[in-house]
Amino acid sequence: MAGSFLSFEGIDGSGKSTQARLLAEALRAGGREVVLTREPGGSPGAEEIRRLVLEGEADRWSAMTELLLFNAARRDHLEKTIRPALDRGAVVICDRFADSSRIYQGLTRGDLRAVVDRLHDLVIGTEPDATFLIDIAADEGLARAVARPGKELRFEGMGLALQERAREGFLALAAGHPARFRVIDGARPPKAVAADVLAAARAVLDAAAPRP
Ligand code: ADP
Ligand code: TYD
Repeated sequence: MAGSFLSFEGIDGSGKSTQARLLAEALRAGGREVVLTREPGGSPGAEEIRRLVLEGEADRWSAMTELLLFNAARRDHLEKTIRPALDRGAVVICDRFADSSRIYQGLTRGDLRAVVDRLHDLVIGTEPDATFLIDIAADEGLARAVARPGKELRFEGMGLALQERAREGFLALAAGHPARFRVIDGARPPKAVAADVLAAARAVLDAAAPRP
């Protein structure tokens, strides 16, 4: 793979989408081709699955069916968007990827971590080159997320205790994979967070650059 694959993770409202967009703008200004994408979604088929998963009644799917839908969406996203972009040397910036399944289906919405890992190995088998964990307190994330308008409400009833478990889960995942994760303090103005993200991203891209 010629390009670089960067992902953003963190609890709802942590600022992932904002930071993914700011990083894409900064790297494009530096002349890189950037594909800014998101999960669930990021390809036409996966966006259809996104609607199935995030809209409708809370009990519409079990944690296991949710996991299968997220993996179907992720596989399509990988085939149609991510791999082609990496093959032509682009930087792919993805708002959530497989770590979100590890935390939500694996730990908070379900306790399916072993299945999450086996399924990932079977049908995805790809990890980002670097993952930026935007870390903020659970109550701050929740306050930001509920203030946002929209109809993707199936997951919104999650509550403070589960947001706290998700935050702890992400931090533990980062501690377990220190070579891939960069933990960024998200409780600062967007520009300050973006400066840290850009510095970390540049280090990753420089290390990936072919030697002259
Ligand atoms: P996420 O993608 O992690 O859910 P968003 O980037 O959508 O988070 O941000 C959630 C809300 O918080 C948005 O209304 C956004 O404008 C706001 N926001 C994002 N980053 C910050 C920040 N650093 N400080 C304060 N508010 C922020
Ligand atoms: P997203 O649109 O990123 O929400 P937010 O901007 O609020 O962070 O993701 C929607 C929801 O989908 C979010 O609550 C996390 C959940 N999700 C999973 O449960 N498993 C997954 O594999 C992914 C990618 C997302």
